[in-house]
Amino acid sequence: MRLFFSLLLIIPFRIFASSIDFKLDKVIEIYGLQGFNCNITQPSDPLLSPLGEALFESKLLSGGQDTSCSTCHLKELNRVDGLPISVGVGGHGEGVNRLKHGKGILVPRNSFTLAGRGHSNYKTYFWDGKVEVESERIVSIIGDGKGKGFHSPLALASVLPILARDEFLGLLENTQENEMISINDSYYEDRYFKATSFLRKQISTSEGDEWDELRKIFIGSKIEPENLKLSDIGNAISAFLIDKENCVENKWSQYVRGNKESLTEQQKQGAFLFYGKGRCVSCHQGDLFSDFNFHSIGTPQGEFGVSIYGQDLGRSEISLNYEDRFKFKTPSLLNVSKTKPYGHNGAFQTLDEIVLFHLNPMPFFKNKEWTEKELYSYGRILSSRSKMLSYIDMFTKEEFDQLISFLEAI
Ligand code: HEC
Ligand code: HEC
Repeated sequence: MRLFFSLLLIIPFRIFASSIDFKLDKVIEIYGLQGFNCNITQPSDPLLSPLGEALFESKLLSGGQDTSCSTCHLKELNRVDGLPISVGVGGHGEGVNRLKHGKGILVPRNSFTLAGRGHSNYKTYFWDGKVEVESERIVSIIGDGKGKGFHSPLALASVLPILARDEFLGLLENTQENEMISINDSYYEDRYFKATSFLRKQISTSEGDEWDELRKIFIGSKIEPENLKLSDIGNAISAFLIDKENCVENKWSQYVRGNKESLTEQQKQGAFLFYGKGRCVSCHQGDLFSDFNFHSIGTPQGEFGVSIYGQDLGRSEISLNYEDRFKFKTPSLLNVSKTKPYGHNGAFQTLDEIVLFHLNPMPFFKNKEWTEKELYSYGRILSSRSKMLSYIDMFTKEEFDQLISFLEAI
């Protein structure tokens, strides 16, 4: 009798559970999902990985010798810096301490995690897509990547911070001794060649223990510092990123590959919303959760931006197309619950905040103090919001919470 009652309880639950699994199987089939696969990577030379790691961690490459890649891509923070926007050369400390210090040049965008960046399908880098793959070519602000010897788009993306004024080069008043800054006067493509000869000289002739250490690591890499090119640095860093940072094992991928126990019931319902009524998949596509295209969700401008008058015009900075103003690359959502804050300028502190903003931007502004600039200009950003967001079809708190719990499994 007791068994009978417990069966009565279990059976409907089972039917319910299997029906969500059944529905998700259809989703997986329709969208051709395979789960994130660490082994499908861009071309890379594993021999270069130790050198890449050393370069990634080294402050020697920056103009003021005070900034390394890991300053803004911290290991303990899943390779972001935890700040709304990053603090580059001239700054001190790591993470929040860098803000407290109050010096350093702002890089007015939110840092990206590096998981999945070495996957072969990862096609567009940076919020505005300044590095992109277009029919096998690597297109970028420093010209064609393959012709310059870059193994992959990630390799090219890995050297752009070195050529950027705010991330690495520095400003005259900040670092008087800094020879790298003269590179800053030129167009990006010129900067590439100037930075190559500058770094070649620095690395092959500078004196001191740290430099000696770095030169030792070059020995195992087949690259001679005297013949170094910036593309060698990019190829080495990307080899490291592919070798050590690319791989993410998440619960959703396990589910897609057949482990139906890896998600909670709530996460399964959330997944169904993500691919169904929530319409998230129209932009956050595939195993990397991005269409690698550009859209506006109407994110308000922050105080600082890369474009004229401290704005951030997003994609139109690169495409020079008026229609692309305020559009940003759809960010990959791999590891997203571990990489706050969110949005291209870190305007959103929590996942709840940014997801709700896709559905309805009004609550975000309820308690917001408008600056004069925002008060008179936000309308044009609001009107750039993608029409695709109007198809999102969700109404209850329960559904919203399910969706957020799915984001914690990817
Ligand atoms: C001052 C902080 C800072 C430093 C230093 C820095 N980054 Fe970044 N990184 C960022 C920010 C901010 C972004 C997003 C910028 C944008 O999209 O315009 C980013 C984006 C990237 C991306 C693109 C990821 C994507 O999905 O589009 C890669 C790759 C990257 N950084 C690698 C590096 C490497 C390699 C170095 C060292 C050579 C480095 N970064 C140094 C802050 C930094
Ligand atoms: C029209 C395309 C589009 C749709 C549909 C869409 N997103 Fe986004 N999403 C974006 C863009 C673009 C950004 C970055 C916006 C910015 O920075 O201004 C973003 C940002 C995010 C972020 C923050 C990621 C980060 O690293 O900062 C999350 C989380 C997110 N979206 C989840 C969702 C969810 C959940 C849905 C479904 C309810 C959804 N998105 C639907 C385009 C879209």
